[in-house]
Amino acid sequence: MINKILNKKTLTKGDIITLLKTNKEDTIKLFKKANNIKVETVGNKVYYRGLVEFSNICEKDCFYCGIRKSNSNFEKYNLSDKEIIEAAEFAYKENYGSLVLQSGELKSEYFTNRIEGLLKGIKKVSNNKLGITISLGEQTEETYKKWFNAGAHRYLLRIESSNKDLYYKIHPKNKKHNFEERLECLKSLKKVGYQTGTGVMVGLPFQTYEDLANDLLFMKKFDIDMCGMGPYIEHEDTPLYKFKDELKPLKERFTLTLKMIAILRLIMPDINIAAATALQAIDPLGREKAMKIGANIIMPNITPGMYRDDYSLYQNKPCTDEEASDCKNCLEARITIAGSEIGYGEWGDSLHYKHNKYLE
Ligand code: 5AD
Ligand code: FES
Repeated sequence: MINKILNKKTLTKGDIITLLKTNKEDTIKLFKKANNIKVETVGNKVYYRGLVEFSNICEKDCFYCGIRKSNSNFEKYNLSDKEIIEAAEFAYKENYGSLVLQSGELKSEYFTNRIEGLLKGIKKVSNNKLGITISLGEQTEETYKKWFNAGAHRYLLRIESSNKDLYYKIHPKNKKHNFEERLECLKSLKKVGYQTGTGVMVGLPFQTYEDLANDLLFMKKFDIDMCGMGPYIEHEDTPLYKFKDELKPLKERFTLTLKMIAILRLIMPDINIAAATALQAIDPLGREKAMKIGANIIMPNITPGMYRDDYSLYQNKPCTDEEASDCKNCLEARITIAGSEIGYGEWGDSLHYKHNKYLE
């Protein structure tokens, strides 16, 4: 039965649900198939995006997130422009190829202009060589355009869940948190010309296997270029924490996330799939395991060490007490042991995006 599904050209929702629920033995088959497809389609290289979490100040109040506006139980920080540019110089010097700028969500003219200046600054200090991904939430199309013109060419905006009802169980239902608006933003990003990435959390309270299958079909239908999916990890200072006893055990959430990644590789062979940091919060080798079953992007954290503790979206976040260079060495060793090669100095753009451009 599993072999038949794995050899099909198009997977139905039912097939995906079967794969998500599959037993250990069949899961190994799924993982092997996903890895083969990855190597055949996008190759065996892993691309780096040095992650700079430059501020944890957020205007939003998502029920799952540790840096939500209503949580006062953490130190706020905002890196200076100088510190951000220095992190970019580090990424450039270490030949990372690309950078991700991420922060809590802010919407203001000041913020828009600040990011525009930073993007130009990063391009300048890296002789136009560093690729730049940004992950700065919902903004107007005009802002997205401004940032695109300033040098960002990839954007990550997770839909978190493609099920509208579930979306409103994990977000407040108000003007600041609107499912349709999130969809519109994703459309704007594509229109502006970004390589557009989205993703979901896996193992959320109330989430069903059917929801997860629909999430993958949503990504396929939306024709995304990149994806980042991680396990949901409860945080005690958030409203969703009260459902902690209803969650799947962490290990199950971990395996389910790997299955989601593997199935996504089957249905969208040429996209970029990130090995989310949250995987590493459950298993120290979590990201490396994801690379063996379909992921091809890794985002080493290069936020200056002293701030890392405070960018606590979920608890048990790995490596918050390490300096970026320490991470580099151990990460490199682990990736090599996992059998992949690092695409140093390369942008590692989404082949899917390139294929689509070619068809236009
Ligand atoms: N567990 C796992 N992932 C989380 N994120 C935020 N809070 C959590 C959590 N508690 C993810 C969201 C967001 C990304 C930046 O981090 O999916 O889009
Ligand atoms: Fe940071 Fe290992 S990845 S210490």
